[in-house]
Amino acid sequence: MFTMIKRLCRFTLLSIFFLLSACSNVAISPPNSPNTLDPHGPDAAQIAQLWWVMLGLGTIIFLIVIGLLFAALLRGKRATAETTPETENLDEGRRWPILGGILMPLVILAIVFGYSIFTLAAVENPYGKKDVQIEVVGRRWWWEVKYPDEGVVTANEIHIPVGKPVEIQLQTADVIHSFWVPQLHGKMDLIPKRINKIVIQADKPGVYRGECAEFCGLQHAHMGFMVVAQSQADYDSWVQAQSQSAAEPADATTQKGQQVFMNAGCVFCHTVRGLDDKQIDRSGIDLGPDLTHLDSRLTIAGASLTKNRGNLAGWVIDPQHVKPGSLMPEMHMNSEDLQALLAYLESLH
Ligand code: CUA
Repeated sequence: MFTMIKRLCRFTLLSIFFLLSACSNVAISPPNSPNTLDPHGPDAAQIAQLWWVMLGLGTIIFLIVIGLLFAALLRGKRATAETTPETENLDEGRRWPILGGILMPLVILAIVFGYSIFTLAAVENPYGKKDVQIEVVGRRWWWEVKYPDEGVVTANEIHIPVGKPVEIQLQTADVIHSFWVPQLHGKMDLIPKRINKIVIQADKPGVYRGECAEFCGLQHAHMGFMVVAQSQADYDSWVQAQSQSAAEPADATTQKGQQVFMNAGCVFCHTVRGLDDKQIDRSGIDLGPDLTHLDSRLTIAGASLTKNRGNLAGWVIDPQHVKPGSLMPEMHMNSEDLQALLAYLESLH
């Protein structure tokens, strides 16, 4: 008995520890906490509805079982080996396992199965060309986002017009990832050498957090992204701005920062459109995120840090502290160079 209590205490302490460590992870993430039961798109609404139906059925059955349990406990004395059982009681005894053990579960499971199939059909990706087509490539551990028709390349942030179905083609550059925006749709895997499609739609403007939902290595938990749903006008101006090349450095500090960007080697992994990319051969290199409009983004490092100067500095100097195992190397430079580099990165609106 004593060892059992000790074991139980140890288990409880361990659970609290894991819960707290989960909390510490949330602390460095931006404040959006995606909730599948707060859907903002038609497909997510269908999935949430299925969840409520299953919860409702489960609750009813739970209450019935608990009710029967109490009825059995409160019932009077039963027949024993010594007393002769009444024949009616015997029939009643057979009826319960057949009704409660076979018939009821069959009916309930058939309802749940039928409703799941109905939901599956309702959220299936519709065919036909969509107004907006986006390509998303999963990489360890960030998301490359391309708008081929508009000539836009960005990272960890997908902008979409509100109220319109948007087709996202999913590919992976390395292992299996899974694309999941809980408030807009279910999960869709990114499988090597295959293109999967998912159609998402947001009913209201807002920022919806997405996550990688398939364990893909050390930094799987830090492979997040943001979906920004905007009015058509805001979306159009975002596309217009993103399709431009990077702004030229406007003052001495940003000019120096651009030199640091070139000399320190950032340029070999990170594209800044307009910064004479033609001279840089990036073939065979594991690409880092396109930084042409870095300053327009809400987050950095796969949505694990909000974008501000302090986080940017920490990420450049010691990325392995934030995301151990990521391909971003530590950059050693003096504070003057660092400040200039940060000024340059912040000029990439
Ligand atoms: Cu990518 Cu988990």
